[in-house]
Amino acid sequence: MRDNFLVFGQPLIEQPEIDEVVASMKASWLGTGPKVREFEERFGQYKGVTNVAAVNSCTAALHLACVALSLGPGDEVITTAMTFCATVNSIIYTGATPVLADINPNTLNIDPEDIEKKITEKTKAILIVHFAGRPCEMDQIMKIVKRHNLKVIEDCAHAIETEYHGQKAGTFGDLSCFSFYATKNIVTGEGGMIMSNQKSYIDKAKIKALHGLSVDAWKRFSDDGYKHYYVETLGYKYNMMDLQAAIGIHQIQRVDEYWGRREKVWNQYQEAFKDLSCGTPADAEPDTRHAYHLYSLRIDPKACGIKRDDFLVAMQKNNIGCGVHYLAIPEHPFYKEKFGWDATQYPNALKFGQETVSIPISPKLTEQDIDDVIETVRHILSQTP
Ligand SMILES: Cc1ncc(COP(=O)(O)O)c(C=O)c1O
Repeated sequence: MRDNFLVFGQPLIEQPEIDEVVASMKASWLGTGPKVREFEERFGQYKGVTNVAAVNSCTAALHLACVALSLGPGDEVITTAMTFCATVNSIIYTGATPVLADINPNTLNIDPEDIEKKITEKTKAILIVHFAGRPCEMDQIMKIVKRHNLKVIEDCAHAIETEYHGQKAGTFGDLSCFSFYATKNIVTGEGGMIMSNQKSYIDKAKIKALHGLSVDAWKRFSDDGYKHYYVETLGYKYNMMDLQAAIGIHQIQRVDEYWGRREKVWNQYQEAFKDLSCGTPADAEPDTRHAYHLYSLRIDPKACGIKRDDFLVAMQKNNIGCGVHYLAIPEHPFYKEKFGWDATQYPNALKFGQETVSIPISPKLTEQDIDDVIETVRHILSQTP
């Protein structure tokens, strides 16, 4: 057993971002400023999109995306039953009603056929998640969207590097949202980005992200003359800080290098676990790029002889930090009470949520860390009847 605890999803922070954060602090410019602009430019270049706005989380970006589409009471938005709560909450914040679709049990992404079944005359948009970094079935989804004249928001929290048939994730829908939370493929601690091919959406999102002010704060305090600001609309406090962007402008330059490391770990795990009783993730589909954000084992107690939660405890006891991404959305009491959702109506999401265990995958892992994870998984599963 390893002698120190392997923290799940540790980011790799290198010297250039440490120096950049220190430089921001020495310049006394901590809030939204030139480094946020630089991070937006670099991120936009990576995705090949000019309309981007950095914000303080993907949750904020998702909320702003729903606001940009003017979603509100009476509107329905179809989303996946297998995601982090922020996806669903962003719809609820606007007063619109989330409607869940089940997942495909193999890809873990929203099932296009179930989307189609859930469409009503109130449906205004669909909010998809490229789960674990695997792209959704965009050909099928975009056909449905066109047929029913719907808007699309892409939750790309797991999918910075993801591509589908040569097209980058986040460029299919009307708006897309990214996360730079500490465990994500590139990090700013907390942080997010909203992106669109349509400038007017991002112009609106930028104003809404900063109290609804007409002129953003860093221009107000710059040396080219004082500018009055006016509150033009109800806004929020969602702006990113230069301190965060100082990390992001270096992380984004290493996004593909880190992706290569994640892919290597993913392939090592696939090889190491192929003879075990647990389920392993589906391989990436041809002509797509998987972002390898999560590597999840499936612990079906019947096949593995151990319950998922006992497996989690055993991993922790052996000093390997794991995660659960995620319990199915309709398993949470708040949603059950508010919307009367019954998890058994989403059997694929329910089953996955009850069996999944995410094991460490990060560019920071050493060969020793990877060996320790593999050995521990094999050891625990070999102890079971
Ligand atoms: C699918 C998904 N959407 C949204 C979010 C929210 O991201 P953030 O923590 O940056 O608000 C997460 C975070 O884990 C996520 O996994």
